[in-house]
Amino acid sequence: MGRTGEPTPIGVLISGTGSNLRALFAAIEHDPAFGAKIVVVGSDRADAQGLTAASQRGVATFAHELGAFADRHTWEEAMVASLQAHNPQVIVLAGFMRLVSGAFLANWPQSVVNTHPSLLPAFRGAHAIEDAFAYGARVTGCTVHFVDEELDHGPIIAQQAVIIAASDDVASVRRRIQAVEHELLPRCVSLLCRGELTIDGRHVRSRKDHV
Ligand code: GRF
Repeated sequence: MGRTGEPTPIGVLISGTGSNLRALFAAIEHDPAFGAKIVVVGSDRADAQGLTAASQRGVATFAHELGAFADRHTWEEAMVASLQAHNPQVIVLAGFMRLVSGAFLANWPQSVVNTHPSLLPAFRGAHAIEDAFAYGARVTGCTVHFVDEELDHGPIIAQQAVIIAASDDVASVRRRIQAVEHELLPRCVSLLCRGELTIDGRHVRSRKDHV
């Protein structure tokens, strides 16, 4: 991918406000050498605000709510079909709050990435920021990683720490984590789309020294 000189087509899945999606759009728009183009944005929620950001840029969108399908399997098949209609080579889970199966991942081997708001393997799951704060952790952060079939588990591309100060609350920690992930996720996506990353077991190597 990225070796033809053409930007790698990517699909992005979101569930919520889509601030990471906007950060990706901004990074791609500002860096001609970014190496990727967002071709489709999908969601499991029809009211996900990020879908509007995509439509405003003329990017195809879709929403498939799990409740509208007979079961998880048919829902996921619909997600895959709607993505594949635009032929993305990389899938970015940017605040997408559903697990994907091995059948989903088989469509894009070693090419699905996720951003998670903690320093994995600490605080997996949907409430990572609240959990780190409640635990009394002094350091948390964010992790960008390849996706495998386990929750918040695949090989780590990059992590960045965020200090939790005595004066913090959950909202202030969330703001700082999101500011960090809005830089880290685009950086990792760009490296992947430019063919700079290789996976060796749990280790992700970059042709550059540091991700
Ligand atoms: C991000 O903090 C992401 O790490 C987590 O959900 C949040 C989504 O935010 N999984 P947004 O929709 O990108 O604004």
